[in-house]
Amino acid sequence: MADGKTRVFITGTAGFIGYHLARLLLEAGCTVHGYDGMTDYYDVALKRRRQAMLLQTPGFAATEGMLEDGARLDAAIDACAPEVIVHLAAQAGVRYSIENPRAYVDANLVGSFNVMEAARRHAVRHLLMASTSSVYGANPEMPYRETDKADTQMSFYAATKKANEAMGHAWAHIHGLPITMFRFFTVYGPWGRPDMALFKFTDAILAGRPIDIYNHGEMWRDFTYIDDLVAGIRALIDAVPGRPETPEAIAPGDSLSPVAPFRIVNIGNSTKVRLLDFVEAIEAEIGRPALRNMMPMQPGDVPATWADASLLRHLTGHAPQTDFREGVARFVRWFRDYYGR
Ligand SMILES: NC(=O)c1ccc[n+]([C@@H]2O[C@H](COP(=O)([O-])OP(=O)(O)OC[C@H]3O[C@@H](n4cnc5c(N)ncnc54)[C@H](O)[C@@H]3O)[C@@H](O)[C@H]2O)c1
Repeated sequence: MADGKTRVFITGTAGFIGYHLARLLLEAGCTVHGYDGMTDYYDVALKRRRQAMLLQTPGFAATEGMLEDGARLDAAIDACAPEVIVHLAAQAGVRYSIENPRAYVDANLVGSFNVMEAARRHAVRHLLMASTSSVYGANPEMPYRETDKADTQMSFYAATKKANEAMGHAWAHIHGLPITMFRFFTVYGPWGRPDMALFKFTDAILAGRPIDIYNHGEMWRDFTYIDDLVAGIRALIDAVPGRPETPEAIAPGDSLSPVAPFRIVNIGNSTKVRLLDFVEAIEAEIGRPALRNMMPMQPGDVPATWADASLLRHLTGHAPQTDFREGVARFVRWFRDYYGR
C-alpha cells in the first residue's frame, strides 16, 4: 500500500479528485507534490481553497503550472523525484467539449503527452492516468467491462480520453513503462465540481430555482463516492502491471495488455442509480422539493452508465460501498457549511 516512504507526483491537486487523493496519501505518510494550472473552467476560488488546505499539511508541496508547459512540468517532477505519478489534471466535462473542443486537445492530448514523456524520463515505477466511463459511449451491454470493445465515443471529451488510453498503451509497450488507466464513473462528494449535477441541483433547490433534468429523467448513473474512489486509486498504486510472458498468462476478465505493462481499470460503485432517485435524496437532505424542468437528452450525453468493478476488487480487494443517500447527505452538508446557506 502506498505509504510513508512513497513519493507521489499528482497532477490536478487543486481539482476535486486530486485534492482528495492528495489528502488520503498525505494521511498515509506519503510525500506529495501537486501540479495544477488553476484553469478557470469553474470557480478558481474553490480550487485555491482546496490547494491552500493541502499546503497546510506537512509533506505537501505544489507547483502552479499548465500541463502544456513541458519545461515547467519537468522541473517540478525533477524537484519531487517521484516513484509514482498520478495524472488527474484534464479538461473535464462532456457538455463543454461541444463549445470548446480545443481546450481538450491542449490539456488532454498535448498535456498528457508531456506527463507521459516526463514519466518515461524519470523512469517512475508506475504511471496512473484518469480516463472516464464516457469512453464506453454507445455500448449497449451493461455493466461495462474493461475488456469490452469501446469504439463508439459520443463526445469529444470521451474521444480525447480514449486517445489517452491508446497513447498510454503505446508508451507502455515502447518504453516498458507500467501504466494503469482508470475509468471513473460519475464521482461525487464534498468539495465536488460546480459543473456537475449534484452541485447544480443543490444550489438551485436551496435558491428555489428549477433544476434541468435531461432525457425527461430517464437517466441512470453509477455514482461513485469520492472516498471510495480515492481508496481505489491508492490501492491500485501498488497493483503495478507487468508485461505478460504469454497471452495465456492473463486471467479471464483482466484487461492487461498481451504486449505491454498496461491495464485499464473501472472504478465505480457497481450500482445503477436512477437520476430521479438521486434528486429525491437531495430533496430529503435539504427538506424541500425541487422544481423540475424536464428536458430532452443533451447532445454528447449517454442515458446510462454502470460499472462492472470486479477487476478492481480482484486486483486490490477494494470495493466501493457508500450508499448514494449517505453520500448525497454528506455533500449537501458540506455545501451548506461552505457557502453558509
Ligand atoms: N469527477 C468525475 O466524475 C470524473 C469522471 C470521469 C473522469 N474524471 C477525470 O478525473 C480527472 C479529475 O477530475 P476532477 O473531477 O477532479 O476535475 P477537476 O476539474 O476538479 O480537476 C482537474 C484539475 O486539473 C487542472 N487542469 C485542467 N487543465 C489543466 C492544464 N491544461 N494544465 C494544468 N492543470 C490543468 C484544473 O485546474 C483542475 O484543478 C480528470 O482527468 C477527469 O477527466 C472525472
